[in-house]
Amino acid sequence: MIKIAPSVLSLDFSKFSEQIEVLNNHADWIHFDVMDGHFVPNISYGPKVLEEVKKLTTLFCDVHIMVSNPKDVAKWFIDAGADSITFHIEAVENHFEALEIIEYIKSRGVKTGIVVKPKTTIQEIQPLLKAVDIVLVMSVEPGFGGQTFMHDSLIKVKELVKLRESLDYNYLIEIDGGIDKDTGKLAKAAGVDILVAGSYVFNGNIVENIKSLR
Ligand code: DX5
Ligand code: ZN
Repeated sequence: MIKIAPSVLSLDFSKFSEQIEVLNNHADWIHFDVMDGHFVPNISYGPKVLEEVKKLTTLFCDVHIMVSNPKDVAKWFIDAGADSITFHIEAVENHFEALEIIEYIKSRGVKTGIVVKPKTTIQEIQPLLKAVDIVLVMSVEPGFGGQTFMHDSLIKVKELVKLRESLDYNYLIEIDGGIDKDTGKLAKAAGVDILVAGSYVFNGNIVENIKSLR
């Protein structure tokens, strides 16, 4: 069954608790985008906002950190209640550093994930695939909600499906950026397990929009 993970980035902050309550009844996960103004040209929010979300939900909080110092930031968000931390391969020096962060996240009892930007190949994360619970494929350049879906990302999803099967790995495949009813359908057909959607979910009727992604 596909999991729908609405992104808090597009939530209407003047209706914060009301909209989290709608997600409680209709979404599977909550996706939390952390931007540092350095790894990506935008700033979103810090651990305090996650703490507030956690007070209002028991849903799995999936924290996507778009930051230059993933190890420090992972710690802050785990302390704030993250259920998973996905960090960018482009933010670390090498696979050793990536594995060190993965081990740290695991040691805290939190699910781990690796993220690839549109120009990064699956080959570049292949040595990490065995160790992670989630692989997040970016279908837009990270930094902003509301961008157009990049269809090439589906090739990576299919590659990940094949690798998981042939190597007997266990990661979930997640896609993030430009997901709506139509691109969501394409992503599901390619084999995605988790659909992240921001602007599509929060623009209009949240309940109907989530339903249309299933
Ligand atoms: C982009 C973020 C996404 C974003 C998705 O940098 O990682 O999670 O909020 O937004 P939409 O669904 O509007 O493309
Ligand atoms: Zn995201």
